[in-house]
Amino acid sequence: MQRIVYSATDVSARAFLILAFRKAGLDVRADAAGNLFGRWHPGGVFPPLTDDGEPAPVRVAGEGAVATGSHFDAIPGSGIYDGTVGVLGALAAVTALRGAGYTPAVPIDVVAFTSEEPTRFGVSCLGSRLLAGALAPAAADALVGTDGVTLAAARADAGYTGPLDDVRLPDGAYASFLELHIEQGARLESAATPIGVVTAIAAPAAGWANFSGGGGHAGGAPMASRSDAALAAAEVALAAEAAAVASGGDGTVATVGVWDVSPGAVNAVPAAANVSFDVRDPDGGVRDAVVAAVRAAAEAAAARRGLALDWSVVSADPPASSDGGVVSAVEAAAAEAGLRSMRLVSRAYHDTLFMARVARTGMVFVPCRGGVSHRPDEFVSEAHLRGGVEVLARSLAKLAGRYVAPAEVGGGEVEKEL
Ligand code: GLV
Ligand code: MN
Ligand code: MN
Repeated sequence: MQRIVYSATDVSARAFLILAFRKAGLDVRADAAGNLFGRWHPGGVFPPLTDDGEPAPVRVAGEGAVATGSHFDAIPGSGIYDGTVGVLGALAAVTALRGAGYTPAVPIDVVAFTSEEPTRFGVSCLGSRLLAGALAPAAADALVGTDGVTLAAARADAGYTGPLDDVRLPDGAYASFLELHIEQGARLESAATPIGVVTAIAAPAAGWANFSGGGGHAGGAPMASRSDAALAAAEVALAAEAAAVASGGDGTVATVGVWDVSPGAVNAVPAAANVSFDVRDPDGGVRDAVVAAVRAAAEAAAARRGLALDWSVVSADPPASSDGGVVSAVEAAAAEAGLRSMRLVSRAYHDTLFMARVARTGMVFVPCRGGVSHRPDEFVSEAHLRGGVEVLARSLAKLAGRYVAPAEVGGGEVEKEL
């Protein structure tokens, strides 16, 4: 499957989610990037109104809301669990909490982020970057998609017309943010452990090596005088592999996943080749050294083969650490649920990478079969989904405290249990 941001399938997923949020009794809003928010107000589904019809103030002064959620876009050829587990799981968690008679002391938001995947506009985590103020609104609007349409035009087409400047979250909007996600690796499965508690997210970088200026007749152009752009790209891919393996880092990975070779004829020497690179390591310095080695290899290949090189780094983000308090809350929640948990570093990136800039964050991982993800055969068992949702729900209850009606505490100070 695939669900590319602002496409017809993405837009219908949005309609589905808005209905599902409403059905769960959440107060729905969307921002100008199309991030969707479903708010569970403390002390009731909707805030009680004061005499003049205004919503009553939140009862625990000075404490931000708690948020949970993930993305719902999907790369080409993906499965159905990446991202969606964290959106629908968040809905299931708040529904379960409500069913259990719990009422939060601060609002809980379910967030469905716009375009965590970089498929269309080349930049990952678009919605959460904008929420965290990590991407300038004008630069975001100017991004051009693979179809030549700007983000400004594409979001307007999908119904999101307001200024992107309004997307950035006000300071302190969220005290904490917790994302449920599939592991996308096999460490939990290997350790027969149903819950992963993420302590950090590795630093990702991505960009392009575009070679041009070669070409010619496959029969007539002698090997010795060729400028083959695809062979230069092949050198980049092999250099990326070698640099990642030799990095000395903690599981450095490098991938060359997009190959755009032209003219794409059996009997023509490739005249141009545009290839992507994606490099990650928990240490941003190690990641940068690998990117530098790939660039040096690209420059050397271009020079040796008589090609022009257009090198660009689209994003190079620092790693993120989970908050100790959130990690403890998740571990305690797993213990309460009777589920074994282990700490681990996320090698995939997530919207949490950016939410960590504006809130105390953490992530709950559930195992996926064989560690397989970004493939159609991605699979998560119902038992693991159930466990993840229970741990998410119990964690949210700890982070959001419990609302106690004034009557229950004799009209005095509202209590907050953590
Ligand atoms: C997210 O999909 C990633 O590539 O880590
Ligand atoms: Mn993904
Ligand atoms: Mn994901």
